[in-house]
Amino acid sequence: MVTLRMKGIILSGGSGTRLRPLTRVTSKQLLPIYNRPMIYYPLNTLIKAGIKEILIIIAPEKAGEYLNLLGSGKEFGVKFTYEIQDKPKGLSEAFIIGEKFLDDGDDVVMILGDNIFEEDLSKQIASFTKGARIFAKEVHDPERFGVVEFDKTGKVISIEEKPKKPKSNFAITGMYIFDSRAVSFAKKLKPSKRNELEITDLIKCYIKSKELDVSIIKKEWIDAGTFDSLARANRLAQEKLHKNLII
Ligand code: G1P
Repeated sequence: MVTLRMKGIILSGGSGTRLRPLTRVTSKQLLPIYNRPMIYYPLNTLIKAGIKEILIIIAPEKAGEYLNLLGSGKEFGVKFTYEIQDKPKGLSEAFIIGEKFLDDGDDVVMILGDNIFEEDLSKQIASFTKGARIFAKEVHDPERFGVVEFDKTGKVISIEEKPKKPKSNFAITGMYIFDSRAVSFAKKLKPSKRNELEITDLIKCYIKSKELDVSIIKKEWIDAGTFDSLARANRLAQEKLHKNLII
């Protein structure tokens, strides 16, 4: 396994209101998916890719549970750092919370703690050089997600957060790679109508400078934030994923 000059962030905050009463037991991202807590799946994606330093951003009420479960990271051959997100104020806030963690100018890959990828994305992570790279997947319900529209040559034309009338069927999955400018771009963002620092607005900063590329996800991708997708994630983990996990 290679070691990359890239850091990882797993954003695992939020209150998981859509999954109540399950999330009265524990945080959404610690719920069981077949034989592992949910967060193990995005952790596998990062650790397989050779990421050694991982910042885990969590909600204050659940911090003890994460520490108990994951500890220092030594057990997995990596180093975990923890930060608190007091309120779910948007995905881009992760880069402001993570400013100290990212202060030596490394590139960073962020995965949401409830996003599960069947594909091994190590190559797409290792080949990143500059700007931003996002990962899109063709879906039937794009209005639930950030949506990216491109022309025939693959150039991005537009990006919208949960549009009522999506311009394409390509959802932006919860994995993003940025160079170190993400921190300063995030600091300049204004909250959206739902009062969040949107990840789509951060991605737009890189579209402006023509430094965004999009990698298409071919195998299964699940945002396990609803009861149905949670059930789907369990089936996928039981049938396929558990064979390829390294932690
Ligand atoms: C977030 C992002 C959205 C992205 C999705 C992927 O949505 O805002 O752009 O498509 O994650 O899981 P949320 O899960 O906060 O609804």
